[in-house]
Amino acid sequence: MITLPKLPFAENAMEPFISAETIQYHYGKHHTGYVNKLNDLIKGTEYEEMSLSAIIRRADGPIFNNAAQIFNHTFYWKCLSSSSTAAEGTLLEKINNDFGSLEALKEEFIKMGASLFGSGWVWLVREPKGKLMIKQTSNAHTPLSSNLIPIFVCDVWEHAYYIDYRNARPDYLKEFWKHINWKSASKIYEETDTDVFIGIEPCNDIHDPFCQLMDELQDEDRVTT
Ligand SMILES: [Fe+2]
Repeated sequence: MITLPKLPFAENAMEPFISAETIQYHYGKHHTGYVNKLNDLIKGTEYEEMSLSAIIRRADGPIFNNAAQIFNHTFYWKCLSSSSTAAEGTLLEKINNDFGSLEALKEEFIKMGASLFGSGWVWLVREPKGKLMIKQTSNAHTPLSSNLIPIFVCDVWEHAYYIDYRNARPDYLKEFWKHINWKSASKIYEETDTDVFIGIEPCNDIHDPFCQLMDELQDEDRVTT
């Protein structure tokens, strides 16, 4: 059974970037709905006893869609900060190395988020060999499926911003950039900074530190639905 992680901040903590009303729908209806739907779908199946990351790497169709959306949303909440934080340390050095500057990454990230057609996600990810890149995924798709390590993500489904920004997705992305939780991003970058963190084989939950990290995120402060 998969559980709904507790929202890591108060419903109104992100105002005016994200209103409490948006959080009530986004977390209270959408994220919660994916958890309830997935548990209905996996009942009595081989997936029932698996971790979330294991389900994502093995399933397809509705089970994949709901499992991936649970992970994507859990990760998205962890990427947000109500107070201003700054990129620093080894992650900032890597950004400067791979993108030229933090400002260049910002411009490209917002452009990629604004240009994604339909619903989806825009991510800063690292490749297994360590290079940082920006990746768009449509609908529920997630970098976990392709062994890319997410550093942070912005949800660009309309349900993430339509109440507060209507159709102005670029404005939402610009505000997102001001609320990135760089402490969380640095922690993930540093904890996955090894050549052996992930292999090309499907995830083995015991030996894959990244899957363990993601499942720890999922399991923190869990809420029973
Ligand atoms: Fe969402």
